[in-house]
Amino acid sequence: MALERTLSIIKPDAVAKNVIGEIESRFEKAGLSIVAMKMVQLSREKAEGFYAEHKERPFFKDLVDFMTSGPVVVQVLEGENAILANRDLMGATNPKEAAAGTIRADFADSIDANAVHGSDSAESAAREVSYFFADDEICARA
Ligand code: PPS
Repeated sequence: MALERTLSIIKPDAVAKNVIGEIESRFEKAGLSIVAMKMVQLSREKAEGFYAEHKERPFFKDLVDFMTSGPVVVQVLEGENAILANRDLMGATNPKEAAAGTIRADFADSIDANAVHGSDSAESAAREVSYFFADDEICARA
C-alpha cells in the first residue's frame, strides 16, 4: 500500500447545493485526510490551464464555462492509495453510469455538472496539486 496525495475539486454545482460538508465527510469516513483546502473562484485562464489536456475536445468551452460559473472548493487528500480511493468515492464521470452510493450518483446532475473532480493518475496528481498549492500550504499529517 502506498501513501499518496491527490487533488480533489468540489465543483460549482455541488457548492451551490450546499453539500460541501457532506462530500468532505465522505473523504474523511473513507480514511482520507484533508491536508490542504481552499475555496476559490477560478478565472478562465486558471480553468483553461488546469484542463489544458482537454483543449481540443468538443466540450472544452462548456467545461471552462461551467468551472468558472461559481466558486469551487479545492483540496489535497492524503491516504493509502488516495488517487484510486478518491476515484472510487466519486463514481463514473457520467452520473447516469455512477455506482449507487458514490458522490456523483448522489449529487451530480449531468456529465458536465458532475459535482467533483479527482486526479486520475500519480502524474496528474503531482501536476494538479502543485497547480493549486505551494508546498508550504500543504500540512503533512502522516
Ligand atoms: S476523465 O475521467 O477525466 O477521463 O473524464 P473525461 O471523459 O476525459 O472528461 C474530462 C473532463 O471533462 C468533463 N466532461 C465534460 N464537460 C462538459 N461537457 C461534456 N460533454 C463533458 N464530458 C466530459 C468531465 O466532467 C471531466 O471533468 P473532470 O473535472 O476531469 O472530472
